[in-house]
Amino acid sequence: MKVLVTGASGNAGQAVCQALANGGTQIRMADVVPPPQNALAWGEFVRYDTRTPEDARQAVAGMDAVIHLAAWHCAHVPPVSDATIFDVNVNGTFHLMQACREQKIQSFVWASSMAYGWGGVYGVTKVIGEDLCRMYNETTGASVAMLRYHDFVPKSYLAFGAKLLRNAVDRRDVADATVAALYGAVEKRFGLFRTIVHSNHHMTEEIRADFGRRGAQWCEANVPGATALMKKYNISLPGQVEQHDLSEAKTTLGWEPQFGFVPFLEDLQTRDARGENIHALWTPSDLSVVTVAKESV
Ligand SMILES: NC(=O)c1ccc[n+]([C@@H]2O[C@H](COP(=O)([O-])OP(=O)(O)OC[C@H]3O[C@@H](n4cnc5c(N)ncnc54)[C@H](O)[C@@H]3O)[C@@H](O)[C@H]2O)c1
Repeated sequence: MKVLVTGASGNAGQAVCQALANGGTQIRMADVVPPPQNALAWGEFVRYDTRTPEDARQAVAGMDAVIHLAAWHCAHVPPVSDATIFDVNVNGTFHLMQACREQKIQSFVWASSMAYGWGGVYGVTKVIGEDLCRMYNETTGASVAMLRYHDFVPKSYLAFGAKLLRNAVDRRDVADATVAALYGAVEKRFGLFRTIVHSNHHMTEEIRADFGRRGAQWCEANVPGATALMKKYNISLPGQVEQHDLSEAKTTLGWEPQFGFVPFLEDLQTRDARGENIHALWTPSDLSVVTVAKESV
């Protein structure tokens, strides 16, 4: 089984490639820029621009499955024009699918977004991308997974932790869901599948809806000492916490997120006790934190 990962040099791409390589899967990493030096040990790298059909053909040649992550998104600095975002994300996905069609690819995983349907060109590229996925499934019979990732844009460790209650998702959960979707597609567990990828807060409806008042108590019950910790690091709690239904992802993919706010608080507590300089930490700080290790497909 050989798997092409596009956008392999990016944030999700590196975590996904490392998880696949750890599990012994043969990967081809495709991107406009090469990945960091250490990632070159995980598999072959090919230079690939989504906008060039011939690049897509060469990237897909000889592959059995594809994970398509390459895109421009809103958080990119400096920003590019709307025309470039559309070209890279929409035309790029179309060119890749045409190459997949020629190569008879039957397993395709695609990065959608929580920004699906939002105003702005990026959200529109995800709407069209999901339509392209449906078209690819309907016209080829391939198993296609569309993963609506929530926010995992890198930021300071403390800011990322606080964001876990405000629609962020840990990159390890992103990688885990993506690998699980690949297995699901390869094993033909679905035709067209879509799920949201975000944290599971394991809270009752009453607590989620009234988190501003009840959140501190909930945190303390889960992590004794949390109140003092959050005060020390100035972590504020949101008034409400959003929770999507992740049950289909659990049933169909066998995937459940692991790294929500409680594990973050536990991690913070450990680091604080060790006397680490918390304010200097960055998420994801280091690829070695990726814990996903699957058996090869
Ligand atoms: N980061 C998030 O919070 C988030 C949230 C929802 C969805 N997503 C989606 O997940 C996917 C991965 O996001 P990420 O955060 O890892 O992004 P990233 O910017 O870290 O990685 C994207 C990769 O795509 C590559 N790329 C850009 N233009 C290209 C082109 N023309 N041809 C080939 N490669 C190109 C970049 O070099 C980069 O390595 C994207 O499709 C993104 O839209 C991300």
